[in-house]
Amino acid sequence: MTKLKNSKILIAYFSRGGEQYSVGNIIEGNTSIIAKIIAGKTGGDLFEIKVTQDNYPKGYTELTKYAQKEKKENARPEIIGRIENFSDYDTIFIGYPNWWSDLPMPVYTFLESYDFSNKNIAPFCTHEGSGIGRTASYIQNVAKGNLLNGFAIYGHTAQNDKAEADKKVMEWLQDIKIR
Ligand SMILES: Cc1cc2nc3c(=O)[nH]c(=O)nc-3n(C[C@H](O)[C@H](O)[C@H](O)COP(=O)(O)O)c2cc1C
Repeated sequence: MTKLKNSKILIAYFSRGGEQYSVGNIIEGNTSIIAKIIAGKTGGDLFEIKVTQDNYPKGYTELTKYAQKEKKENARPEIIGRIENFSDYDTIFIGYPNWWSDLPMPVYTFLESYDFSNKNIAPFCTHEGSGIGRTASYIQNVAKGNLLNGFAIYGHTAQNDKAEADKKVMEWLQDIKIR
């Protein structure tokens, strides 16, 4: 297993602004807020997983339908950019919203684009009731690294209660022995 303490950290995340469940119209996505808290506490590098053809609707109901179709088709939307120095990282945080009890499809594109063997993988998820569900095991199906305990937090907590989000993130980082 690669080292945890003082490891070189990457925080890759997918997140949407626009209209989201229980929080209304948001400028910054819920998962993005958590990703930045993690970066602040670990000094890790941030990478936002963004698609080249962004056709995701801004309205919540439309977005859920679009995402459901993408999931049904097992789509692999193309993502922008490549992390050339991926092999330098010891620990990769993977952040995403729970979408239909699954990972958003672009996260699969990301996971399939790199070699995660010998990496620590730390999944974190925002949701509105389902928690992390089975999504960590879906990550492990694709990315054969050392899977650490995952972290789940309500999207509305990330969005509206920064102090609570900050506290929960810190507890998790201590639990997985990153900090
Ligand atoms: C397409 C879609 C599907 C969702 N499916 C679920 C779900 O199955 N379970 C759940 O708890 N929340 C679900 N949600 C709520 C999101 O997980 C939650 O609002 C999340 O914090 C959004 O994060 P973001 O702002 O980073 O994109 C869904 C939201 C969307 C847009």
